[in-house]
Amino acid sequence: MDFSSKVRDIIDFPKPGIVFKDITPLLQDPCAFQTAIDMIADRHVSEKIDAIVAVESRGFIIGSALAYKLGCSLVVARKAGKLPYENIGVKYMLEYGEDELQIHVDALLPGQKVLIADDLLATGGTIEATAKLVEKLGANVVEAVFLIELLGLGGRSRIADVPCFSLMQFS
Ligand code: PRP
Ligand code: ADE
Repeated sequence: MDFSSKVRDIIDFPKPGIVFKDITPLLQDPCAFQTAIDMIADRHVSEKIDAIVAVESRGFIIGSALAYKLGCSLVVARKAGKLPYENIGVKYMLEYGEDELQIHVDALLPGQKVLIADDLLATGGTIEATAKLVEKLGANVVEAVFLIELLGLGGRSRIADVPCFSLMQFS
C-alpha cells in the first residue's frame, strides 16, 4: 500500500521553516489506518510484548490501536503536568522547541518487554526521552515503531541502542 500519498505536507507549521507531516488523511482512510497498524503489529505477534508506551499526543493514536491489536497494556508518556499520579520525567529538545515527558512510577514492571509507539521520528529527542523513562522503570525497549521517519535529522543514530521501525521514510 502507498501510505505516503496519505501524508500531507504543511509548509511553515507550527513555525517558519518546518515542513509538517500531517497524518490525518491516513487516519481518515479506514483501510490505510488498519493496514498500517496491522503491518506494525505483525512484526511482534510471535513474541510476548507486555506493554505499548505511547507518546503524547499523536503517539496515543498509534499506540492504543497497537495495544488493542497485540492484547497488551497501554502506557502513556505524557507532557509535563498532565499525569495525576506520582511520576518521573525527562526533558528533551524538539525540531521546533523544548519539552518534557513524564510516566507514572507504576506504569511498567522491571523486565517487561515494551514497544514505544509514535507517529513520527524526527531528531529522535522524543524517543530518546521516552526510552530513558522506560529504562528508569527497569523495563526493556524491544523496538520503537513509527508511521514516519524523517531521514537526515539524525533521529535513528541518536538512539542507536534502540531498534527502530518506520513504515514510511521521507528525506
Ligand atoms: C511530534 C511527533 C513526535 C515528535 C518527533 O510530537 O508526534 O512525538 O514530535 O520529534 P523528534 O523526533 O524530533 O523528537 P510533538 O511534540 O509535536 O507533539 P504532538 O504529537 O502533541 O503534536
Ligand atoms: N514532529 C517533529 N517534526 C515534525 C514534522 N516535521 N512533522 C510532523 N511532526 C513532527
